[in-house]
Amino acid sequence: MSDQFVPLPEHKFTFGLWTVGNQGRDPFGHEVRPPLPPTESVHRLAELGAYGVNLHDNDLVPHGSPAAERDAIVAAFRAALDETGMKVPMATTNLFSLPVFKEGAFTANDQNVRRFAVRKALDAIDLGAELGAEVFVMWGGREGVEADAAKDVRHALDRYKEAVDLCCEYIRERGYSMRIALEPKPNEPRGDILLPTVGHALAFIGELAWPEMVGLNPEFAHETMSGLNFTHGVAQTLWHGKLFHIDLNAQRIGKFDQDFRFGSEGIRDAFYLVRLLEDSGWAGMRHFDAHAYRTENRDGVWDFAKGCMRTYLILKDKAERMRDDAEIQEALLVAKADQLSQPTGPLASVRSASFDEAALAEQGYGHERLDQLVTELLLGVR
Ligand code: GCO
Ligand code: MN
Ligand code: MN
Repeated sequence: MSDQFVPLPEHKFTFGLWTVGNQGRDPFGHEVRPPLPPTESVHRLAELGAYGVNLHDNDLVPHGSPAAERDAIVAAFRAALDETGMKVPMATTNLFSLPVFKEGAFTANDQNVRRFAVRKALDAIDLGAELGAEVFVMWGGREGVEADAAKDVRHALDRYKEAVDLCCEYIRERGYSMRIALEPKPNEPRGDILLPTVGHALAFIGELAWPEMVGLNPEFAHETMSGLNFTHGVAQTLWHGKLFHIDLNAQRIGKFDQDFRFGSEGIRDAFYLVRLLEDSGWAGMRHFDAHAYRTENRDGVWDFAKGCMRTYLILKDKAERMRDDAEIQEALLVAKADQLSQPTGPLASVRSASFDEAALAEQGYGHERLDQLVTELLLGVR
């Protein structure tokens, strides 16, 4: 195996504690792997070349821990971070596992459940700030409904906005340099989840009290579950200046939420995504929100983690090769790809231009040849 693709902290790879710590439970079967202590994840991931780890409040501190216990857990975790140089760039809160959130969290019909959820988020913001996190992810897994009669979505969105605004108000009041990243998902665990796609979430941000503090954490699997093109979703998120974080994994359209190793499905889609992130100069984290197959033991988990990072680096190399490949670049000229950055106007030119419509309609764009060249690059024969 070539060692050209060795992950290093400078590549900004991160994993959630819940990803490598995933015990392989699914709706039909029990856990197949023992719990993984967070400090062990920090050490193992550091050895593998990751930049940091991300966490839900309860991945680190079990729900309901007394204050002294919480502080001791956080101190031990801090020590592991200091020993390894690992960072915690993102933190979040678990508003989906506890029975109290079965009808929703920020958008529960019951006002006390909503207050409980917002309070839990505020505590998780404090924990994240204490660990140095600059992004706070909001994934509303329980914000949804199965029985449509039970919830007015317009009111639910009012309450969603209110909860995000309250969290922003708190961040400002505490003087944290933290931004919020909303994570859209169409379904699972709810039958339908609010803010189901990148597009819905981008529109929602415009209605917030501090829209500049809120962006997105799009996930490969989530847009793919809806049959959407994830790379296009990320491109639009970048276009709006709203890419605050990203969740990388793999997913097949039409399947359950798979959370597979990055690049293990849809390798072309993964390639175009990596190319977009690298070409755009994305300076943020390459975060993997995925987990090892249920067939794996502990060793398989580390194979999984290595695989995510290695595939990213291989695809990054392919993107560079694409840029240097004279034939592909020439095919891009045939496709007139370069012309798209030129404006269409001004209006006077649009109005005065003369067109040979038949000639325009007749021209070919060479996409077949271009696409085949990229396919051959990816298959390793160029
Ligand atoms: C999922 C989600 C979660 C979130 C995580 C961080 O489908 O379960 O992707 O993994 O990303 O809760 O907010
Ligand atoms: Mn997911
Ligand atoms: Mn996710």
